[in-house]
Amino acid sequence: MKTAVFANSKGGVGKSTIALLTSLSLATKYNRANVELIDLDPQATTSDSLSRFANYRFKVINNEEFYLGSTTPNNSRIISHLESSSDNHISECYSVIDCPAGNDPVRSTFLLHSDIIFIPTSVSDADVFATKKYIASLIDLFESDVENSPKKPPLAVILPSMIDHRDELNELRSILAGMPVYFGKPLRYSPNFRRAFRAERDDSNVKILLKEHAAYSQWITDLFIHSDRLKLRPKKLFQL
Ligand SMILES: Nc1ncnc2c1ncn2[C@@H]1O[C@H](COP(=O)(O)OP(=O)(O)OP(=O)(O)O)[C@@H](O)[C@H]1O
Ligand SMILES: [Mg+2]
Repeated sequence: MKTAVFANSKGGVGKSTIALLTSLSLATKYNRANVELIDLDPQATTSDSLSRFANYRFKVINNEEFYLGSTTPNNSRIISHLESSSDNHISECYSVIDCPAGNDPVRSTFLLHSDIIFIPTSVSDADVFATKKYIASLIDLFESDVENSPKKPPLAVILPSMIDHRDELNELRSILAGMPVYFGKPLRYSPNFRRAFRAERDDSNVKILLKEHAAYSQWITDLFIHSDRLKLRPKKLFQL
């Protein structure tokens, strides 16, 4: 059982979009894997949209017991779910958790039970400032309870999202240069993402996205599956 979390305190940075792409890519490419998408957003956009694809291998969960308020996760309930899934499965099992905006690492101890935390951000100032703060509190969380942690802390990977131009990416990389986390491949801006969550006839919108971003999907699913191959914390921003 491996768990990836998509989180940032900032809204509209691409958390749900990339969680959708990652969970569907895992479920379609690895036909022996069990995949679950846990939507922690009471607005339930991701889970409402993806529930039409749910089957015996792809579970879509929006359980009110997993949150206490719109931005407050029910840590013990989520942790016990992740632990029981680990015990029950003999086959590969991947859990993808989509967090709502406003996620505060200090109140989200379930993050310590994940393997990898993906932090999407665009290049806009508001997103970058929020992302820097978010990462600083994430690192505080990792360092707060090292002795009692159930497992080694998760990897933290910034995901540049909605990227239009290479210059934007370079700018983002230089602003975040001092942060001791990984810097992922860019997800470019594509108008097709605007239609990612609707239920179109034949699901052509989703098929187009999976095809258009096949290389990105391959990269992010490989990274998730093999996250244990990377060392925990780079000294400064490390480009993957
Ligand atoms: N690469 C992209 N290209 C174009 N549009 C994108 C891209 N990624 C996301 N979007 C659009 O940006 C908006 C915000 O994306 P999304 O809902 O994934 O963000 P979020 O971080 O989950 O937001 P929230 O915090 O509200 O849950 C959506 O309208 C989505 O369609
Ligand atoms: Mg979202």
